[in-house]
Amino acid sequence: MPPKILVIGSTGQVGRTLKDIVHSNLDLGAHYPNLNKDIFQFASRAPRSDEIALDLNAPESEILSILDRVNPALIINAAAWTAVDLAEEKQVDAFKANAEAPGTLARWAAKNHRMLIHFSTDYVFDDTLDSPRNENAPTGPLQVYGRSKLLGEQNVLAALPGGIILRTSWVFSEHGTNFLKTMLRLGRDREELNVVKDQVGAPTSASTLADVALRFASLIRNPKTTNHLGGIYHVASRGETNWFEFASEIFKEARNLDFPLNVKTVKPIMSSQYPTPAQRPLNSRLDVTKVEKTLGITLPDWRESMKKVLNDLKGKN
Ligand SMILES: NC(=O)c1ccc[n+]([C@@H]2O[C@H](COP(=O)([O-])OP(=O)(O)OC[C@H]3O[C@@H](n4cnc5c(N)ncnc54)[C@H](OP(=O)(O)O)[C@@H]3O)[C@@H](O)[C@H]2O)c1
Repeated sequence: MPPKILVIGSTGQVGRTLKDIVHSNLDLGAHYPNLNKDIFQFASRAPRSDEIALDLNAPESEILSILDRVNPALIINAAAWTAVDLAEEKQVDAFKANAEAPGTLARWAAKNHRMLIHFSTDYVFDDTLDSPRNENAPTGPLQVYGRSKLLGEQNVLAALPGGIILRTSWVFSEHGTNFLKTMLRLGRDREELNVVKDQVGAPTSASTLADVALRFASLIRNPKTTNHLGGIYHVASRGETNWFEFASEIFKEARNLDFPLNVKTVKPIMSSQYPTPAQRPLNSRLDVTKVEKTLGITLPDWRESMKKVLNDLKGKN
């Protein structure tokens, strides 16, 4: 039995993209040395026949016994409570999935000399600063979701200092619920839309995140890797934008691709004109220098990734 890589959250944007890559015709080992499809196992709380059942909100003993049974060499945790507004009323559930369970995964990994790659968010930051933040910038989450994710990071690194945390922002993909797909739906159903302009960040495609996770997995499984990889990495598209500009660019490109669109006017508004239960940070910019240096890559620009996802969606319709 080869040592396995267990991906948790196979129905989410990142987990599903990882599954698509692993199950595609890609020669995985050629792109990601030391990896091959046979070592991957996928888990979700509503598993398909080829998957493992794993609920992050289950009691710790249950999670531990699943890990003992599967015995993965590496866990990639792409599952999380991501309903940012609902987290304000369901704090206990959000903290269980985003903070306690990642701690459990990390403790199991530490005890068994295994590795963990875990995802986190730009929402661990507050509104201060007007420039990209690096991994050492002070945190200060503005809402329950960000606080739960920050505690998750801390729990992981306290138990497993060699664990890898990939902090990202504004995830979109052809799968699941995300801003790009919501704009395509609203742009089809409405003639006028108001979109927030004062939150700045980088929309990041799930493919970028899956690629980075697989590059780290490849390094972890390389017996010659000697450098210490553990810690936090900021992973986001290059470039920056705001939600209004992102929406406008989505519509421009979607029109070029003949998506059905009835929207005529997109109006920029301020966050204060669009109150939500959870406050969002105005500055979501992440400095990606560390991950680019570590992996020797240049992350794609958000426009390039946006075009690719729109093309993929178009190809499927
Ligand atoms: N989405 C964003 O804009 C964004 C931004 C910054 C960081 N992130 C982080 O990036 C990572 C991946 O996010 P994503 O966008 O791929 O998330 P997503 O599309 O919302 O998917 C979340 C995944 O987590 C699973 N999940 C939720 N609660 C669970 C539980 N109790 N037990 C097991 N699985 C559970 C979901 O399963 P079900 O299908 O069963 O619900 C789903 O597979 C997360 O750590 C997230 O915090 C996301």
